[in-house]
Amino acid sequence: MINDLWYKNAVIYCLSVASYMDANGDGIGDFEGLMRRLDYLQGMGVTAIWLMPFQPSPCRDDGYDVADYYGVDPRYGTLGDFVEFAQGCKQRGLRVLIDLVVNHTSNEHPWFQEARRDPQSKYRDWYVWSKKKPKGADSGVVFPGVQKSTWDYDAVAKAYYFHRFYDFQPDLNTSNPEVQAEILKIMGFWLQLGVSGFRMDAVPFVIAQKGARIAKPQEQYDMLRTFSQFLTWREGDAIILGEANVLPGTDMQYFGGSGDRMQMMFNFDVNQHLFFALASSDSRSLVKAIQATRRRPATAQWGQFLRNHDELDLGRLTDKQREIVFAAFGPDPEMQLYNRGIRRRLAPMLQGDRRRLELAYSLMMTLPGTPVIRYGDEIGMGDNLELPERNCARTPMQWSTEPNAGFTKSHKTCVPIISDGPYGFPHTNVAAQRRDPTSLLNWMERIIRMRKEIPEIGWGDFSFILTGTPNVLAIRYHWRNNSVLCVHNLGAEPREVRLKLAADDEAGCELVNLLSDEHSQPEKGSAHRVLLEAYGYRWYRVCGLDYLLKRSTI
Ligand code: GLC
Ligand code: CA
Repeated sequence: MINDLWYKNAVIYCLSVASYMDANGDGIGDFEGLMRRLDYLQGMGVTAIWLMPFQPSPCRDDGYDVADYYGVDPRYGTLGDFVEFAQGCKQRGLRVLIDLVVNHTSNEHPWFQEARRDPQSKYRDWYVWSKKKPKGADSGVVFPGVQKSTWDYDAVAKAYYFHRFYDFQPDLNTSNPEVQAEILKIMGFWLQLGVSGFRMDAVPFVIAQKGARIAKPQEQYDMLRTFSQFLTWREGDAIILGEANVLPGTDMQYFGGSGDRMQMMFNFDVNQHLFFALASSDSRSLVKAIQATRRRPATAQWGQFLRNHDELDLGRLTDKQREIVFAAFGPDPEMQLYNRGIRRRLAPMLQGDRRRLELAYSLMMTLPGTPVIRYGDEIGMGDNLELPERNCARTPMQWSTEPNAGFTKSHKTCVPIISDGPYGFPHTNVAAQRRDPTSLLNWMERIIRMRKEIPEIGWGDFSFILTGTPNVLAIRYHWRNNSVLCVHNLGAEPREVRLKLAADDEAGCELVNLLSDEHSQPEKGSAHRVLLEAYGYRWYRVCGLDYLLKRSTI
């Protein structure tokens, strides 16, 4: 059993070393640069950093094509630099999570090279082969429109190999005990270097049976227990945060009935319905998604997010719902991707409307779980739709108005920096927002501070309070005799709502506003009347008689 549930009330910040900060002036971000920004991250209040892949890689899928699991890509530094970084985080009380991409390797990985060259090699069986092209090879692709097949012919091996993702990402045969042992070894290696866990890439595919003859692959959930056990044996507080976009009905299989599998998963279901709620001003399907994912073991936790480095996948919504989100946030075909999602950053999707950005963040921070913030979103960075596929939302961090946004001293950058328009670095950058007390960055810092002071959200039970309108969502948390109420108006019109707290003994309860001094006293009959402006939100502590008595004696 895990001995420190730090992730239950954490704030996770995700970034890629390559696009964060370049220290040596070659135009590519590196660990040395990232280290110079640790105080910025600590100051913002995040408690854990999730690093996207930084291992040696041909980088044809932004590092999600790993060519050596035990190293650092020389572009970003050395293993020594990684250890310095891990130490810098430790000094500041920041936890480090790293991506663990073991569903597949790069086709340039020596294991694959040896496997294709030599049928006798032990590595042959580390991948998934077939003499003939299997039936259904052209279905089940993850990147429709870009990827044609899941089986491709390798002329050297004289056989077809399976790849769930791009053709340069051959799948590992994860059922092979040797491969499983290697995965543990990789985890053990990085644990030893100071990480607190892993964001496990593509979990449903890692644990699926693979092979030409498997028509309906079954998930091998036990594998997850093996991973988790290994972590706790080696390091009592290390976790797995799984990327598993699965139906709510199967969540418990991933967490394990007694919490013995993955500690955390991203809540993709809530994510999609959250965007539908923002697009339609209707909270009902979001409420359903929150209810559907309510059940989880006491030690398990959801990761709640808005945008990540991939497209906003809307595959779970009905066609009609998806159309509404497309129309609101990504009407042009070039904003959409893989027939299922939107590839833009959050700020341009919400037309840079500060009220809507705050609403979206406030919601994310107060949904059951632990918030996961994407780098750059704290200053409202934009996207560059000229870049292919998901790369549009992966541009370098905008630090200042200096040339190249203060990201690098080089004239050339790995990925172009956004320089024009409202999201260009002259307008949107950290330095300017730091000096402006009303900036999004300073708002973010305050809201993170407050979120950390409300452990009820990460730990507690929740219930919905009736508001009388689908435009307004009110969710209440209880934990250890404390209670918090969060109210959000999704609509573009102001709304007055009557909120009735459930229990009779709460009749006299005051709602203490945590973000301003606009508190609410109950009316006769114990209801509260709250007037919310367009896209308005309130965080209240529900103060019962106990609290009031105590306060009046101070
Ligand atoms: C995950 C990653 C994505 C990557 C894919 C293949 O879905 O989030 O960025 O392309 O796995 O590794
Ligand atoms: Ca560099």
